[in-house]
Amino acid sequence: MDARSGTTKLKSAELESAKLESAKLELIMSFGEDRIIRKSPEEIEKMRRSGKMVRQVLNHLKGVVAAGVTTMDLEQAAEKLIADLGAAPAFKGYYGYPCVLCTSINEEIVHGIPSEKRTLKTGDIVSIDCGVVYDGYYGDAAITVPVGEKLTAELKKLLEVTEASLYKGIEQVKIGNTVGHVGSAIQKHVEANGFSVVREFVGHGIGTKLHEAPQIPNFGKKGQGAELTEGMVLAIEPMVNSGRPETKVLSDKWTAVTLDGSYSAHFEHCVAVTRQGPMILTQ
Ligand code: MF3
Ligand code: CO
Repeated sequence: MDARSGTTKLKSAELESAKLESAKLELIMSFGEDRIIRKSPEEIEKMRRSGKMVRQVLNHLKGVVAAGVTTMDLEQAAEKLIADLGAAPAFKGYYGYPCVLCTSINEEIVHGIPSEKRTLKTGDIVSIDCGVVYDGYYGDAAITVPVGEKLTAELKKLLEVTEASLYKGIEQVKIGNTVGHVGSAIQKHVEANGFSVVREFVGHGIGTKLHEAPQIPNFGKKGQGAELTEGMVLAIEPMVNSGRPETKVLSDKWTAVTLDGSYSAHFEHCVAVTRQGPMILTQ
C-alpha cells in the first residue's frame, strides 16, 4: 500500500458521511508529493535536533497537566517554550489549523483545538500532539497522559497498550521491511488487547515538510506498501480506541472523535530507517 493505494482503499470502502469528512481531511493534509524523500545522515541529525525540541515541549507539558488546567494553558506554555528554543511551531497555520498543539480529551482522537473553555478534570486522559520546525526540518510527536492519579484500570491499560503498540511498530523499522510490517505489528498488539485502531487517520513520512509520503497506516499486513529503505523518516502514530474504530469530525472541522463515544489514545514518534535499525528522533 503506497500513498496512492492508501487513498483508493479509503475511497472504495463505503464510509458513512461522517467518516468521509475525516478521511477527506487526512487526505488533503497528507497529499501533494508522492515521492518518498530519503534523508542523508546530516539531515537525520537535523531532524534529531527538531525531534528533541518536540520532546522537551511534551515533557514540560506533562508537568503542567493537572485538574483545573485548561487546554489553552497547555497551548500557551508550548508556544512560549517553542519560541524560547528558537524553533517555529509546525501546526499553526497548517491548512488553517489555529494552534501550536492538538489537545484531544477522552473520546477525542486527534486534532482537538486548545481552548480556555476546556478544563481538564481528574480521571480524564489528554493526548498532546506537537510539531516544530527548526533549521528547515520538522519534528512531530504525541503522548497521552492521565489527569491526576485516579485513572480507571481500563484507561491505564489503553494508554499502556497504545504506547506499547508504537514500540511494536518501531521494532519493524528495518531496511527491507515494508510499511505494512509496521501497521501489522501495531494492529496485532492493539487487537490482541481488545482495543481497535483508527483507520481514517494515519502516520506519514516527515522531513522538510510535516507530511511527506508514504502514509503509515496503523493496520495492514507484512509485505504491503512501500519498502523501507535507508534514510526514510517515518512519523508513526497509533490512534487506539477503547471501543469501535469508527470516527467522525466535529463541526469545528478539526476535532476527530470516536463515533461510539469510547476513549481514544495517541502516541507518536519520528523514526529514521538506518543500517543499524530504527533510530528514534523524538526522544
Ligand atoms: N501529528 C498530527 C499529524 O501528523 C498533527 C497534525 S495537526 C495539523 O497529522 F494541524 F497540523 F494538521
Ligand atoms: Co504526525
